[in-house]
Amino acid sequence: MEDKLPQNEPRLESILIGSREIDLRVHEMAREIKDDFSEGLCLVGVLKGASVFMVDLARALSLEGVRGITFAFVRASTYGDGIKGENESGRYVKLDMLGTKIQSPNILILDDILDQGITLPSIKDRIKAEYPDAKIRTGVLLVKELEKPSPMREKFQPDYVGFTVQDRWVVGYGLDAGELFRELPYIAIANEKMF
Ligand code: IMP
Ligand code: MG
Repeated sequence: MEDKLPQNEPRLESILIGSREIDLRVHEMAREIKDDFSEGLCLVGVLKGASVFMVDLARALSLEGVRGITFAFVRASTYGDGIKGENESGRYVKLDMLGTKIQSPNILILDDILDQGITLPSIKDRIKAEYPDAKIRTGVLLVKELEKPSPMREKFQPDYVGFTVQDRWVVGYGLDAGELFRELPYIAIANEKMF
């Protein structure tokens, strides 16, 4: 099926990454990841944005022969329900580990997108503190190219990256704008003025 924007939807501008392209890249990422892990891998998804990416990646990892995959989720609240906060420096991450207990020797923390690099490094630090002996890696579907990256962002490089995107608000494939558009099978650019 061809990707199509919903009709009469002024909140979406254009399709940035099509569903087929995402699918191919997720399978490529699975091949990169499987080379780095032997058996026993806990995928830790950052709710809610990483959920779609995580289940697709898990199935791709299974096709690549990775065994002993388990799922865990954590919840991070950064922006609230809107688009970007006006005062980036005043942002903080509220983490809820949702009672997560990880047994695997290998942990791969997955998020939908790396923006200012506040969310993922905080989650990684927290998990590292709780599981000091685990091999911990991070993966994101998207990385935002920023004109003025924060110091946190400059210090942090995820181990696996799907695509680099321009500094626009993007939705679809799990990513939302005000909780909407997570179900789109592609990544689309939102019209920021409409939110
Ligand atoms: P960071 O902490 O600034 O790296 O922000 C990353 C988090 O912000 C992600 O987990 C997303 O939930 C959210 N986010 C950042 N940019 C976008 C976007 O363009 N669309 C949807 N969510 C985004
Ligand atoms: Mg998020």
